[in-house]
Order: sequence, then structure tokens, then C-alpha cells
Amino acid sequence: MPMPKVFATRVLPREAQELLAAETDLEVWPDHTKPSREVLLERAGQCDALLTTIEDAGDSELLEAGRGRLKVVANFAVGYNNIDVASATRLGVAVSNTPQVLEKTTADLAFALIMATARRVPEGDRDVRAGRWMNWHPLSYVGRDIHGATLAIIGLGQIGLEVAKRALGFDMQVCYHSRTRKPNLEQRYGLDWRPNLALALRAADYVSIHTPLSPETHHLIGRRELEVMKPAAILVNTSRGPVVDNMALYEAVRDGVIWGAGLDVTEPEPLPPDHPLLTLPTVVVTPHIGSASTQTRTAMAVLAARNILACLRGEPMPSCVNLEALRRG
Ligand code: NAP
Ligand code: GLV
Repeated sequence: MPMPKVFATRVLPREAQELLAAETDLEVWPDHTKPSREVLLERAGQCDALLTTIEDAGDSELLEAGRGRLKVVANFAVGYNNIDVASATRLGVAVSNTPQVLEKTTADLAFALIMATARRVPEGDRDVRAGRWMNWHPLSYVGRDIHGATLAIIGLGQIGLEVAKRALGFDMQVCYHSRTRKPNLEQRYGLDWRPNLALALRAADYVSIHTPLSPETHHLIGRRELEVMKPAAILVNTSRGPVVDNMALYEAVRDGVIWGAGLDVTEPEPLPPDHPLLTLPTVVVTPHIGSASTQTRTAMAVLAARNILACLRGEPMPSCVNLEALRRG
């Protein structure tokens, strides 16, 4: 019996490659950049499983190309807005993501952005390196306090809750708005529920976004939402770039509608170096590194590999997002 064929669109941490190679005919795309659309379409038709990243479009054309052979698409991410799950389900293709291994690491990065933006850390570092810092002055490089401030979490899921826990350790007040109210978490962590987005935004000195990208959350934060925020507020986005309207954000920071922003995700990614957002000193941008620790990236890769192996063996998958597909497949 030939081994099932798996195509991984990027080089993976060694542990995951070894797991897959022990039971499958594994092909790993060797380049640092993603495979072309042609390569991806071709592999979809030739493979039993694809291991994709957020840069690979798992749309209906790709899933159709795998019709008859492709059984599983394991996304190397907890977010799976790059995969057309409805088409996958219709075609009996299982889709998996990587929950419960990255929320603490991603929350650390969200908190790092809160602190870096509020205390102007990248700006100070740039000035020191460029020889622009000449002397200490009571009014230079002053930022915003974190302790005593109010943080609004938008989307109280796994990552949002971890950010809330970090904020409590920094003596912040935490409120939240989410699709579903969570009275047990309110009670356990002393979180204040805000029944709509505007009420959460209005209350906050810091706003941290943690919703998935969906038709409902596309440009969830636009000009109208920014205008209800405090002039001293800082917006942090570690979810997906299109959840925030970046041009509205640029104008809001430029015009003093809000104070600054920390962004791990943008629209597009990467931002072109001449993007207006990058001209603003109180905007900090990182290259989508929320989950980027060695331990967490390894755990994500191993989980993606386990999802593929479980699906190919006909065993329960650790984190399938469309169980319905397995009933059809
Ligand atoms: P999660 O546990 O599913 O949490 C998402 C939360 O958002 C849930 O609590 C959800 O609903 C809430 N939500 C959904 N739609 C909403 C809406 N329209 N308005 C308000 N709340 C809404 O996901 P997670 O693991 O925390 O990850 C969140 C997202 O972060 C991922 O989807 C991904 O895009 C992004 N991410 C980015 C990085 C990075 O490297 N920057 C790393 C990991 C994840 P309920 O209120 O019903 O629970
Ligand atoms: C990264 O962006 C993820 O969704 O895991």
C-alpha cells in the first residue's frame, strides 16, 4: 500500500516533519516564500493532505482541485479565515487549526505592543541608534501610564482572556465586549461586561482586538468606532489586519482622535514601507509575530501534523473545525 501523500507549504519545526515523515510520503516546500498558486493547485490534486499557513488561500478552487483525493487541510494557525470551510465541508475535506497552544504567547505579544506603544519604546530605540537622543529632558519621550488604566478586550476568547489576565497583573481595570456574555469569567476575574462595542470603546484607555476575521468583523473598527474612543487611547490589534480600517486608523492617529496604535497585523501584510501609518511615531508595527516563540511554533506544527495523521488514520482529530466534513467524507 503506498503511503498517503502530504504537502507542507513551508519548512516546519523538526519534530513535526519527523512525525509526518514516519507515516506519510511528505513533501516540504523548501523556499522561504509561499509556493505559487499553480504549485498549490497541482499538489491539491496529487495529495491526501495539505499543511497550509495563513498566506495560502484555501479557497473553493483549491479545494475543488483536490476533489476525489484531498482529505484534510491542516492550517498552521488558530485563525482559519484563509480557508473556505463551507466548500471544504461540502467536499468532505476536514479543516483543522491550532487552538490551545498559542494563546499565552500571542497574549504576551499583545501586551508587549501595549507597553511598547504606550512607553514609546521603538521610537526611543530608533533615536538612540541614530544618535538623535542628545539629553534627558522632563518633557521628552513621555508616554501613557498602563497601571490604573482601563483595558477593553474586544472578543473574549482564548487570547483575549490571557490578555485580560496579564492586564490584571499590571493593576489595570478590564472590561470586555464579545459576541457572547461570559458571567463566569466576569465573576472569576472581575471583568466588566459592555453590551455593545461603542460602550467598551468609550470606557477604555487601551483597546485590544481579539476577534476572528469574518464578514461580521471586517472593518469592525473604522472611523465611527475610532471617534468614540478617548483622545488618549491606544488601539492594539493582534487579530487580523482587515478587522481594522487602516486608513481610518491613520487619520485618527494623525488628527489626534486617538493617541496611538500597536499592530501585529495589517492590511495588507506586509505594509509597504511608504504606507502613511509608518510615518506616525506613536504607531508600532510588528511582522505578524503573535505566536512566534520557538516553543509555540513547535507546538503548533506538531498539532497540525497530529491533525493530519489522525484524519488519515480515521481517528478523531485533535482540532477539526468542520466535523460535519468527516461525516460526509
Ligand atoms: P477564539 O478563542 O475563538 O476567540 C475569539 C473570540 O471572539 C470569541 O470569544 C468570539 O465569540 C469572539 N467574537 C467572534 N465574533 C465576534 C464579534 N463579531 N464581536 C465580538 N466578539 C466576537 O480565538 P483566539 O484563539 O482567541 O484567536 C482570535 C484570533 O486571533 C484568531 O482568529 C486569529 O485571527 C488571531 N490570531 C493572531 C495571531 C497573531 O500572530 N497575531 C496569533 C493567533 C491568533 P464569543 O464571544 O461567542 O466567544
Ligand atoms: C496566527 O495568526 C494564527 O491565527 O494562529
